[in-house]
Amino acid sequence: MLNLSVEGFLEQEIGLDIKSVGHTLISQAVFRRMQACHLNENAYLRLLQNSDEEQELLIDAVVIPETSFFRNHKAFEFLAEVVSERAKKGLIQPLKILCMPCSTGEEAYSLAMTLFTAGLSSDEFQIDAIDICEPVLAHARTACYSASSFRTKVAKDAQQDYFSRSYMENGQVRFHVLPSVQAQVNFRQGNLLSSTILAHDEQYPFIFCRNLLIYFTAHARKHAIKKLENSLQQDGLLFVGHAERSLITQGGFEPVPRSGVFACRRASCTSKRAAKPGMPLPASPVKMASMPAQVRSTGISRQAKPIAAPSQQKKMTHCGNAKQTDLQLEQAQVYADQGELGKALHLCLDFLASQPTSITGHFLCGVIYQAQDIHDLAEKSFQRVLYLNPEHQEALQHLIFLAEQHHAYNVAAQYRKRLQRLRQKQS
Ligand SMILES: C[S@@+](CC[C@H](N)C(=O)[O-])C[C@H]1O[C@@H](n2cnc3c(N)ncnc32)[C@H](O)[C@@H]1O
Repeated sequence: MLNLSVEGFLEQEIGLDIKSVGHTLISQAVFRRMQACHLNENAYLRLLQNSDEEQELLIDAVVIPETSFFRNHKAFEFLAEVVSERAKKGLIQPLKILCMPCSTGEEAYSLAMTLFTAGLSSDEFQIDAIDICEPVLAHARTACYSASSFRTKVAKDAQQDYFSRSYMENGQVRFHVLPSVQAQVNFRQGNLLSSTILAHDEQYPFIFCRNLLIYFTAHARKHAIKKLENSLQQDGLLFVGHAERSLITQGGFEPVPRSGVFACRRASCTSKRAAKPGMPLPASPVKMASMPAQVRSTGISRQAKPIAAPSQQKKMTHCGNAKQTDLQLEQAQVYADQGELGKALHLCLDFLASQPTSITGHFLCGVIYQAQDIHDLAEKSFQRVLYLNPEHQEALQHLIFLAEQHHAYNVAAQYRKRLQRLRQKQS
């Protein structure tokens, strides 16, 4: 009874789809709050109904603040290209970016670092960073991070230019975002679903709303997408998380065909873009050599390639050497981003036939199967990823999601424990 009421409250208040995080997480959070308040179930429910403060504390206990510097770095690389392109055309500034949800701040600071590296000066941009959870914002404002916030080479490269260091008594290093970067970011609290947030007329050229929509119910998601659309300039770009691309394209956006970027724009923009050269999507990608070191790609895809004509594709598919198979996987990702799942899967499976131990290949395959609702094969692909790399957190997250969808809560709980152990090990 208590859980049902609490879940109803969370669904209504923050749009939380309980399946996305699991009933166990909610039960544990409620149990912790009851213990902290020294209350039994009924008394806690009464408190929750009457206290705004307790409502906030419970919300803080259930949100997933998972984030890191330059997470999915290709999005930042792409942003730098677009901004450089605009600057060349004299279209810059002052530039404002919305980063919501910003969690503990890594994403918002990464945006500021990207824009500095792209050549903008401090008075040419600002980042509005918003999250529902006050404790994660408090962390963000300290601008102080441990090594676990730097998970990729791109993130570690940024340490040199944008952080100072201090050492704890036990020799652990702490990284402090430089004050010049901190000054570019305004943190504030807000619920994307509340009527007071983003209610002003301001429209942003770029919005980063990554890894939030996956936690929403269909109803909340629809509402959130509408709000984001209202806050995005006509020719603006909305960046979402890798699992969210298909959610947003069902909501009136169309994907930008760049591998691994997961940016979208209003569907209505396409025809206007063709006639208007100064729009955000660069006509041709900026050469990697001219890209700032901090935002250079290290993944399989250095630059998005135009989709090959069918005859070229065939050639590529049957080529044996590693470079061409990499291109093949990259092309599969491009198709997947565009929603061409059949083509994407075909290329991906072809790629795996010649590179059967490719973690990236199996992961992409899993994502494609998942998007096609072929859950058993998606599960097999993610399990294969884990077999090849037992510390692959994203594969675990997908497996949790799939297990919860099939009400296999015990299986999900086991995966979740494993994920928690990995995170603890990292921090
Ligand atoms: C997984 S983090 C994503 C952080 C970052 N965007 C990223 O991709 O690395 C999700 C964040 O969403 C926030 N959140 C959850 N519900 C929200 C809502 N309704 N409005 C605003 N933020 C919300 C949580 O507090 C949490 O910090």
